[in-house]
Amino acid sequence: MCGIAGYIGRDQAAPIILDGLSRLEYRGYDSAGIAVYDGEKIHMQKAMGRLRVLEEMTQHGATLPGFCGIGHTRWATHGSPSDTNAHPHMNEENTIAVVHNGIIENYAVLKSRLEKKGYRFASETDTEVLAHMLTEYYRGDPVEAIEKVMHRVEGSYALGIMFLDHPHHIYAARKDSPLVVGEREDGKFIASDVPAILHYTRSVYYMENEEIVCLSNEHTRFFNVDGESIQKEPVTIDWDIHAAEKGGYEHFMLKEIHEQPQAIRDTVSPRIRENEIDLDDIGLDEEKIRGLRRISVVACGSAYHTGVTGKYVLEELARIPVEVDLASEYRYRNPIYEPDSLTIVVSQSGETADSLAALRDAKAHGSQVLAIVNVVGSSIAREADNVLYTWAGPEISVATTKAYSAQLAAFYLLALKFAQIRGTVTPERFRTLLDALRRLPGQAESLLAQKEKIQYFANHYLATEHIFFMGRGIDYALCLEASLKLKEISYIHSEAYAAGELKHGTISLMENGTLVVAVATQDALYPKTVSNIVEVKTRGAFVMALTTFKHNDMEKCADYVLYVPETEGPFMGSLSIIPLQLFAYYVSLGRGLDVDKPRNLAKSVTVE
Ligand code: G6P
Repeated sequence: MCGIAGYIGRDQAAPIILDGLSRLEYRGYDSAGIAVYDGEKIHMQKAMGRLRVLEEMTQHGATLPGFCGIGHTRWATHGSPSDTNAHPHMNEENTIAVVHNGIIENYAVLKSRLEKKGYRFASETDTEVLAHMLTEYYRGDPVEAIEKVMHRVEGSYALGIMFLDHPHHIYAARKDSPLVVGEREDGKFIASDVPAILHYTRSVYYMENEEIVCLSNEHTRFFNVDGESIQKEPVTIDWDIHAAEKGGYEHFMLKEIHEQPQAIRDTVSPRIRENEIDLDDIGLDEEKIRGLRRISVVACGSAYHTGVTGKYVLEELARIPVEVDLASEYRYRNPIYEPDSLTIVVSQSGETADSLAALRDAKAHGSQVLAIVNVVGSSIAREADNVLYTWAGPEISVATTKAYSAQLAAFYLLALKFAQIRGTVTPERFRTLLDALRRLPGQAESLLAQKEKIQYFANHYLATEHIFFMGRGIDYALCLEASLKLKEISYIHSEAYAAGELKHGTISLMENGTLVVAVATQDALYPKTVSNIVEVKTRGAFVMALTTFKHNDMEKCADYVLYVPETEGPFMGSLSIIPLQLFAYYVSLGRGLDVDKPRNLAKSVTVE
């Protein structure tokens, strides 16, 4: 998501910080800022847009002299992209400056408490609460103030902090958001990612959760969250710069596949409070939700596929009729708008031309539009009546993975909330589903460990010309995405079929050795899909099946079986998709293709 770079040493800080931030540009951002301490005052400069703007404003750092500073590139989460919302954030007295990556989940409660005490906020960000809280707890010892803040905030953070009282010192801390400390003889660095400092040093300390560091020219001191001194050993980084940007992964796609547990967690956890789902910001009061008679989901590509899953989940749990449309079809088909309906536009980039046009059409016809969007401040986010953001972070690989997973999670939140309000699930079922939702990120993590098994299987199918995916219900919705992923990056022709529909045509394509990927994770539909597997096998197909551990009888009918952990039926797609994304990835890799930039495709399709 955002990027942090900080420096203290014998050189001018600003040019080093700006250079560090430029090495993090690949992560995506919408504004940048820097604070430099010249020994008397903390000087700050922020600019919306590319880092180039900030570099020009500061004459490449020359207007901000000083040997100690922190900088940040912001990818907006709370509050739109703007100069004011850009980091660093300072307290009212300009004595404490903070940069922050991550999300402070309880910021709203903290902010209103601080406001009652008279603290005035300049920005809409969650980060600013940190600057004011540090002011509140600061009694001369920065580490003690940081500890106190850490005990009170919930969420994820990597922080870089300067205190006017402590010239030539930088403080940093982290929880669930990466942070590294670099050292060389004449200077020290903090960074959210290794590439920011790799040009200066290869000696790095990885900060662990709930650790604090104090850097000065003389010392590098680490503390735990109780302020006790701890010892850490530096490691030597031997990656090349290019690999470092990808966090050591060979491709952004593989990195983003691995970021999915976090993307789901970041989308879900800020919206669950004390066993309730808090969606107060989506502009639908309980009366409106109770009265909903229809939902239209409109999107393109993978976002459309999350809509197909969303239909199954919303209809099953909240009992609202849902129609799902490709935006390019919807905008020209003269759709029927009814009162008491809701249009949901789903988009990672928030800039897809057809989705934006569909949104405008819906609004022009008086339909309330809720957008599920990843990029804050994007056109769709701005024009929708309300937004449910997915906190997947910037996605770089053209083939979406983590944004898709975060969109699914957003649909689960909506379905659960609507179901609770409409009384279509019992309180017990609601709790069970909520618990399952909380467990999803951990289960997704466990699946990533199956990588080698999937790579082994993928390597046997590099020369295949056609692959068929089949499943029923949510498994079918998932097959649509698995098939798209494969064809996008491997250039192998593939199709997704509702398993029951095969015999109405596609079964004629089955011959000896045809690869069929069968997904069977829905208990009620399991025997039906097994029958379809038998049908294609009888015609010579080779079947790789994907099911849950309890259905190990699958070994008797499929040729190769991949198992996924079990969750509640409506949420299964979030787990089943991971092995199939990895399958597409390894096929593409094995065929020697450009995984992250497949031919003819664009990440954001802003033309019709
Ligand atoms: C492009 C991308 C897909 C994406 C689709 C919709 O085709 O390659 O990965 O699903 O656009 O994009 P959006 O940004 O609206 O989700």
